[in-house]
Amino acid sequence: MASSQFVSHCTIDALERAASQLKDGNLIAFPTETVYGLGADANNEAAVARIYKVKGRPADHPLIVHIGDWQLMGEWTEEIPDYAIDLARAFWPGPMTLILKRSELAKDFITGGQETVGIRVPNQTLALQLLNEFSKVGGKGIAAPSANRFGQVSPTTAEAVRQELGAFLSEADAILDGGPCAVGLESTIIDCTGTNPKILRPGAITVEDIKGVTGLEVESPERSEIRVSGSLENHYAPDAQVLLDIDPQPGDGFIALAEIPTPNGVIRLAAPKTIEAFAHDLYAALREGDAKELMRIVVAQPKGDGIAIAIRDRLKRAASNF
Ligand code: TXA
Ligand code: MG
Repeated sequence: MASSQFVSHCTIDALERAASQLKDGNLIAFPTETVYGLGADANNEAAVARIYKVKGRPADHPLIVHIGDWQLMGEWTEEIPDYAIDLARAFWPGPMTLILKRSELAKDFITGGQETVGIRVPNQTLALQLLNEFSKVGGKGIAAPSANRFGQVSPTTAEAVRQELGAFLSEADAILDGGPCAVGLESTIIDCTGTNPKILRPGAITVEDIKGVTGLEVESPERSEIRVSGSLENHYAPDAQVLLDIDPQPGDGFIALAEIPTPNGVIRLAAPKTIEAFAHDLYAALREGDAKELMRIVVAQPKGDGIAIAIRDRLKRAASNF
């Protein structure tokens, strides 16, 4: 059975090693502030092909390229509109991915053959240190989808990555442990190829945030012509059936804000006090429900705007698998 290295103490030595493993074509799972990513050298076709294999993901789904500094975005992209520069300066490092016209550096094996590429500067110390070490050995970017099997819940701890992907990784790959992810939901994806920014996947950076910085109207369509695997139905789903806004029955798992009490016989999986804490706890709570082998997980969805929109977006997909 395959066994990747599990690195719990990410010293600079360990990160230097991880960067050279990446450069040699191996995979490194690493923390970001949103969720853990499964990283490969974004210029190495064979390494990127292994991401798809390990995830069990269809090969025409594009990957996000992670870079260490917003000023490097021009290496991977062309024709950057002014509003995208404003967004990059305001929110990077941060939980935001910009979709831009690709440069020659972004090959078909990254973009799934599309003329655009997704770019992000993560706001997580280990991730930024890894990107820095990677650039010292000549790396230009780390391609990284969420470090889960295709269609499953994104991992927000290193242990969850090991459970998801450990059996599919090899000895020369590694999982870096940076503790639980601060945000807990995937980045906001913003298409910047039109005259106005357009949200393809909601996240912690909200419509109001984007309007505030760009002064532009923000499109936020239900569906997009562009392929975004996270916008398929039946995604972010645990094994248990997810049910929204119904009364939980004895034996059900239950996720709700702390102010909502737990009915008798119901198994409380999370009781976050704020909407941000809800986002932070959600995926771990869904995993906990599976670890307890529950048949059903009932979620009382948080109301309102901000990251609550992203929470409801993911829950709708998690609940669509039955
Ligand atoms: O927070 C995040 O974005 C995490 C961390 C690891 O950075 N990454 C992540 O990657 O969620 P992934 O691959 O699981 O989801 C990224 C989504 C996919 O649905 C993909 O289809 C979409 O971004 N995407 C990537 N490049 C794109 C492009 N050029 N055009 C449209 N969608 C794109
Ligand atoms: Mg994903």
